[in-house]
Amino acid sequence: MIERIGIVGGGQLGRMLTEAAQPLGYEVTVLEKAPNCPAAQVGAQQIQGELQDPDKLRELAEATDVVTWEIEHINAGALEDLEREGFNVQSSPSTLKEIQDKFAQKQLLDSNSIPVAASLALPATFSSGDEAKRRYLKDFQLGFDAEFIVKSRRGGYDGRGNYVFGPSSTLESMQAALGEDWSNLYVERLVPFGSELSVIAARDIHGNTAVYAPVETVHKDNICHTVITPPDIDPRLYKDAEEIGHETLKLLKGAGVFAVEMFATADAVIVNEIAPRVHNSGHHTIEAAQTSQFEQHVRAITGMPLGSTALRAPAAAMINILGQREEPLTRAGLDDVLALPDTHPHFYGKSSRPARKIGHITVLGADRDEVLQTAQQARELLVV
Ligand SMILES: Nc1ncnc2c1ncn2[C@@H]1O[C@H](COP(=O)(O)OP(=O)(O)O)[C@@H](O)[C@H]1O
Ligand SMILES: [Mg+2]
Repeated sequence: MIERIGIVGGGQLGRMLTEAAQPLGYEVTVLEKAPNCPAAQVGAQQIQGELQDPDKLRELAEATDVVTWEIEHINAGALEDLEREGFNVQSSPSTLKEIQDKFAQKQLLDSNSIPVAASLALPATFSSGDEAKRRYLKDFQLGFDAEFIVKSRRGGYDGRGNYVFGPSSTLESMQAALGEDWSNLYVERLVPFGSELSVIAARDIHGNTAVYAPVETVHKDNICHTVITPPDIDPRLYKDAEEIGHETLKLLKGAGVFAVEMFATADAVIVNEIAPRVHNSGHHTIEAAQTSQFEQHVRAITGMPLGSTALRAPAAAMINILGQREEPLTRAGLDDVLALPDTHPHFYGKSSRPARKIGHITVLGADRDEVLQTAQQARELLVV
């Protein structure tokens, strides 16, 4: 019988997981470095420590009945060890490990016939100096495409870890952005996408699955900025996205929620990457779906039946609140936001800092244009 849930990470995702777990009667403990983290503020117990620390992970596992995570850049090896010892860890530490390496992830998808952008690892040991590296990248431009994208295999998020290598790029600018360790880099074809999509999918411990309607995601400066459902795409591509969501879930072990990020081109859907956790592109489900992604994850890992993913409104939009200034949060304009129809602001209990995700706003309504417009209006009214 599961009564206590342990979460590696206590940021906004851990906070919203806590808020979903509490009404079902679960106690939550999070492992997080900074004191009074967003999850602790809403009643989770907090073990203070580094997310990588094997001793702290053990402490979390011993204090709870199931361990899960809100972030993928954690110690997958230590979680594998705990699982081997008989601790309940969800979803799967081995899947987490595979996904942590973006290039290995691409190969996993490709070898299972899930469409992805063509990619290639850079030579791991490149001792021949800058001239050889320059030549290598030039050859790439000629052979692959005029422009391509260089990505960090590990540790990237919110675009940190990506570098678009164009005609005027230099070895130096690339290495300034991504570091000089070429064994941590790989190159990928730039996808000429019309839009980006995401599918949130869940599997429970019995193997039952539930998939949410695809959403359109809009990134600004590589950070997910807006999420809209329904997406403005050809119905055939919409069906492809749903199907790819189902097929991708089959490759991922363990119970929990996963997000599958995709590109939609003029005639195809291609997977960009998988997040083995609740995701920014599913925040709208708190109000817009019968079961939020956070409750779904809690249900999935505790052996409860999965909930309906049906949407409660014909359309929904979610817009992130990114910090604007290095100052205490003001929330000026919130009264005007709350006057808008079916508009739901969420603050994560974080201080403001430029480009930091400190909250989001979800709007439900009758159609895509309406909810998008109201969400944008709400965001403009707020000063944070
Ligand atoms: N191969 C690609 N072609 C075109 N755009 C890309 C490609 N890979 C990433 N991007 C853009 O960069 C964003 C962030 O890249 P992603 O690989 O998802 O990194 P992160 O881990 O930071 O989310 C994507 O959402 C997309 O907008
Ligand atoms: Mg991404």
